[in-house]
Amino acid sequence: SQIVADIKLGKTGKAYLINEEGYFIISPPFGGRPLKDKAYIPDGGHPGKSGIVERLNYCGKRVLCVYRKVPRLGWWLLVEQDTEEIFSPLYSLRNKMFLIALISVFIAVVVSLAVSDLLIKALKHRDEKLEEKQRQITQSEKLAALGQVAAGVAHEIRNPLASIKVGIHSIQKEIGEKLDLNDEIREDIEIIKKDIDRIASIIARFLSFARPAEPNYEPINVNSILTQTISLVRTKMKEQGIQLKLSLSEDLPPLMGDREQLKQVFLNIILNAIQAMPNGGKIEISTGLGDGIVQVKISDTGCGIPKDLKERIFDPFFTTKDDGTGLGLSIAQGIVERHRGKIEVVSEEGKGSTFIVSLPLKEVKAR
Ligand SMILES: Nc1ncnc2c1ncn2[C@@H]1O[C@H](COP(=O)(O)OP(=O)(O)OP(=O)(O)O)[C@@H](O)[C@H]1O
Ligand SMILES: [Mg+2]
Repeated sequence: SQIVADIKLGKTGKAYLINEEGYFIISPPFGGRPLKDKAYIPDGGHPGKSGIVERLNYCGKRVLCVYRKVPRLGWWLLVEQDTEEIFSPLYSLRNKMFLIALISVFIAVVVSLAVSDLLIKALKHRDEKLEEKQRQITQSEKLAALGQVAAGVAHEIRNPLASIKVGIHSIQKEIGEKLDLNDEIREDIEIIKKDIDRIASIIARFLSFARPAEPNYEPINVNSILTQTISLVRTKMKEQGIQLKLSLSEDLPPLMGDREQLKQVFLNIILNAIQAMPNGGKIEISTGLGDGIVQVKISDTGCGIPKDLKERIFDPFFTTKDDGTGLGLSIAQGIVERHRGKIEVVSEEGKGSTFIVSLPLKEVKAR
């Protein structure tokens, strides 16, 4: 009986010995007290020699019971275990499966969200590109229309302006001989001469914008073009207290470009930088090699460009300056585009601006 009492199966499994009438002979939870309960005989008292049943045990718990008749004695050996415990691996397997299913659904949701996010981003990017193209088309249409008007007007003004200049020159000569003329008149004549020069330079700008000269492509070194351009404005920079930092990449390959036109591009950008720093500051010019391009960066620590104006700075005649024509950047952009390059701007109001000119290394075919 001790052997039977010692039988333990999992946490809830126990073994009993029951006599023919259904009394417990060994019952560990009850200390071996007989229990007058016939119903405890397996299969209601008419059992086979052995078998397995699922039923409620004497405590009312659902158990799986395995029984076997002990030969000769006529007793029953019962081994029971709570159904709950027996099936718990199954339940935990079910729970695990449920968890796995839940995780799979979660992963599927996350993945599909990520994929749709990527798709949305790709579509947005395409839209932005289309918008940019659209903007470029409108820009070049605007340029073409304005160019025709500007060229017409500029041409009409150029000839009379030339004869005015000649006239003033001879008046000045005449006055030079009459020493008794008052100084005020001499000053006025100087002012008129300066204004004529200014108009002439504006006209020249108009024409170079409206009727850009046919580019003359040759192998050029961007660094040397930059140093030549800088020499034109060095004095101006010094006078204005502007510091210059140059970082020119030494191993730049030559590219096909129009020397004079590219000088014009860099001059226009550098002049803007100087004008953006009336109280001094710093200009940084660097060159570098990119993926099939030469990149020129021109940064200043000037006033910067307000966000709402950034879209318009390349528009012909857009200016925020009292004496600006608003043509500097549109001329520069026109030239760079003819070189199949591009100009980008990064700017923060009050901090400064950076103009990035990218020029392709591939040979440019004249258009
Ligand atoms: N480096 C810069 N910092 C701040 N603003 C700038 C800078 N470069 C350009 N801008 C802005 O862009 C506008 C257009 O420049 P753009 O060179 O085309 O014409 P402009 O300088 O006004 O006239 P012009 O070139 O005939 O003297 C400028 O009036 C200015 O407001
Ligand atoms: Mg300018």
